[in-house]
Amino acid sequence: MMKNLIDGTFMHTYKAAENALKDKVILITGAGDGIGRVAALTYAKHGATVILLGKTTNKLECVYDEIVNAGYPQPAIVPMDLKGATKQNYRDLAATIEMQFGKLDGLLNNAGILGSLGPLEHFCVSTFENIMKVNVTAQAMITKFMFPLLRKSDSASVIFTSSGVGRQGREHWGAYAISKFAVEGMMQTWACEVGKTNIRVNCINPGATRTSMRASAYPGEDRDKLATPEDLMPTYLYLMSDDSKEVNGQSLDAQQK
Ligand SMILES: NC(=O)c1ccc[n+]([C@@H]2O[C@H](COP(=O)([O-])OP(=O)(O)OC[C@H]3O[C@@H](n4cnc5c(N)ncnc54)[C@H](OP(=O)(O)O)[C@@H]3O)[C@@H](O)[C@H]2O)c1
Repeated sequence: MMKNLIDGTFMHTYKAAENALKDKVILITGAGDGIGRVAALTYAKHGATVILLGKTTNKLECVYDEIVNAGYPQPAIVPMDLKGATKQNYRDLAATIEMQFGKLDGLLNNAGILGSLGPLEHFCVSTFENIMKVNVTAQAMITKFMFPLLRKSDSASVIFTSSGVGRQGREHWGAYAISKFAVEGMMQTWACEVGKTNIRVNCINPGATRTSMRASAYPGEDRDKLATPEDLMPTYLYLMSDDSKEVNGQSLDAQQK
């Protein structure tokens, strides 16, 4: 049964049971900072074993320590630069997860880069290519290579991370906006293909959130007026918990408009 997703009230006030993610194994990309970091801590707090993937090893180690010190299930760390990751890197990652955990119950495709804002007419080709690699190609590859492991779960959730500028074009958001349109399309295509299987695929648009990415897009903004990553977690928990088992192909806003 579809919950009340139209006005979002249900998700924004969603409260997961303390052990809602017990025994689940969840891979989070971009887990060292910003929204990904808080999602990793939140999932671990609710009983999940989290696999922390990110570019900067020491950031991942800090999140690892926070999780262990809090007494949550022991996480795993995967330092990986998604910009240069190869097919073999993804194959190796899948093999390691298979060996250590035997399955995957959740994949949060969260890592992303903003690049530089400006008119499309003047975009820098290499920046454009890097944004596509991290925001689109890496998410497609990781989802493809994790798919056999997701099939082994009783109930698996894949979450892509979108943006308001991935739903409605906006001037000067350039390659970032184009990449987020691609993410929305990728989510819809996956969702059609998984149909009524054990896997569901959805998108979250975090909305303006107090992170370094937002600060680089809006350097003059009053950060205190922005939602924090913690404020978004009801939606992140809802989509990762079995309460959203019937939800597939949705693009949800993590903040109330
Ligand atoms: N914040 C917002 O207002 C907002 C709004 C809409 C959508 N979003 C989306 O939400 C997601 C998270 O954004 P955020 O605001 O939390 O950004 P953030 O604070 O900049 O964090 C981005 C994360 O992605 C990782 N990452 C970047 N490049 C990578 C690479 N090449 N390989 C591996 N990991 C990489 C970063 O790792 P390092 O720190 O190690 O580089 C970091 O952990 C993104 O997809 C973003 O587009 C954010």
